This record gives sequence, C-alpha cells and structure tokens, in this order.
Amino acid sequence: MRIDVVSIFPEYLAALDLSLIGKARQDGVLDVRVHDLRTFTTDRHRTVDDTPYGGGAGMVMKPEPWALALEAVVAASPTAARRPTLIVPSPAGAVFNQAMAHELAGLDHLVFACGRYEGIDERAIDWARGQFDVRPVSLGDYVLNGGEVAVLAMVEAVGRLIPGVVGNPESLVEESHSDGLLEYPVYTKPSSWRGRDIPEVLLSGNHAKIAQWRRVEQFQRTAERRPDLLADVEAATLSPADMKA
Ligand code: ADE
Repeated sequence: MRIDVVSIFPEYLAALDLSLIGKARQDGVLDVRVHDLRTFTTDRHRTVDDTPYGGGAGMVMKPEPWALALEAVVAASPTAARRPTLIVPSPAGAVFNQAMAHELAGLDHLVFACGRYEGIDERAIDWARGQFDVRPVSLGDYVLNGGEVAVLAMVEAVGRLIPGVVGNPESLVEESHSDGLLEYPVYTKPSSWRGRDIPEVLLSGNHAKIAQWRRVEQFQRTAERRPDLLADVEAATLSPADMKA
C-alpha cells in the first residue's frame, strides 16, 4: 500500500518509522511518503495560511499550496486508475472506526491532508474531488490542533490490518472491535501476584470453557464500558446459558 501524508509539520510523522509500521516500511509492505506543504508555496515567506473571509478567530489554510501538493501526489501515484482516496482529518468528518480501518486497508493508495489552524479553504477540498475520492474523517468528538495525530492513529489502525504488517495474524482475530465487542481481560505469569490470582478457568486447560468465559467477559465489559456497541451485536451470539456461566 502507498500512503502519502501532506503536512506543515512533517517531523510529527517521524513516529511512522517506529515499531511494526516502521518495520513494514523497511520490508516494503508499506510505502509511506511524507511531504512538507511549505515546499508547494510560491512566496518568499512560504505562506500557508491567511485570515478567514467573513471574520472570526484564527487562520485558514490557503487553497493553492494544497492544490499544488495534491497534484504532485496524484502525478506520482502508483495506482493505475490515478484516483487515490484523500482522507482529510477533521473534527467535522465521519467518525473513524474499525470497519473504516478495514475498508481503507483494502485500498492501494491513501493520501492524508493534515489541516492546521481553522482548517483548509473549502474550495481546495472541492477541487480535490476531481482527482480523489475525498473523505473527511474524524478521530472522535473532540478537537485536536491539527490532523497529524489523527493520521498517526489512522495509519497504525489501517496498516496493522495489511497482511505482513502484524507478525501473527491471529492476534487480529480476538481483539477489541474485531467482532463488535471489547476484548476480554488478559493475564500472564505469575498466576498469583500481590495477592491477586488469575481466574481459575484459565488454568483448567479446558479450551471450550475458556472460550466461553472469555465471551461472557467480553459481553460484561462491553455492557459496562460501551453499551452503545451492544445494539449492533447479534443477540444470537450469546445464549442465556452463556450469561449465567
Ligand atoms: N483535527 C482536529 N480535530 C480532529 C479530530 N477530532 N479528528 C481528526 N482530525 C482532527
């Protein structure tokens, strides 16, 4: 997968050199390229922002550097159709979730446009629809100072779903949100620590019982912490007997 990120703080994206995503880049599984938006300015001061029409606080990112940067990215796109997906991180976007991560992981070329200040001049976003599948995406219902942190989160969530990025693909199966529920609690050695014992069933060697215990824990945890998720989970996935187990 090819990923291009355009930002006025390319150093922010240095974390993409680390850990599994960094390794996937080294291995050639992910081709991540970070671009400095200021490279695409044409004035002496490398200006990327200006005051908003209509007044109001803050500054707005000028459309021209964005158009030049995105044109360069499209021109260098490895995708045959030359119509990459442009993710615009914004608190005004659709909320990112695991289903979206899976969907994006199936694409060949993702481009991220990191806005700062009060956002990007809307005409640049409209213009981009001519060459990209444009998707404004929010990390959640809160406001960050810019898109970079959101891009780090999205690239990690998407990247780890691409075959070859996570060493053991089985670890993707039983994790939070993989089946709409939160993950069950996990424990490691020692079995007794500071007066706290691990649940006995985990020492039983009975895999069916362990699987059932984990499922019940998933439901209990989800009901406690994220009851909103339960509405989307098939009631049929847990029988009343499971709940009593
Ligand atoms: N930029 C500012 N706030 C954001 C958010 N919540 N999600 C994505 N990008 C953002």
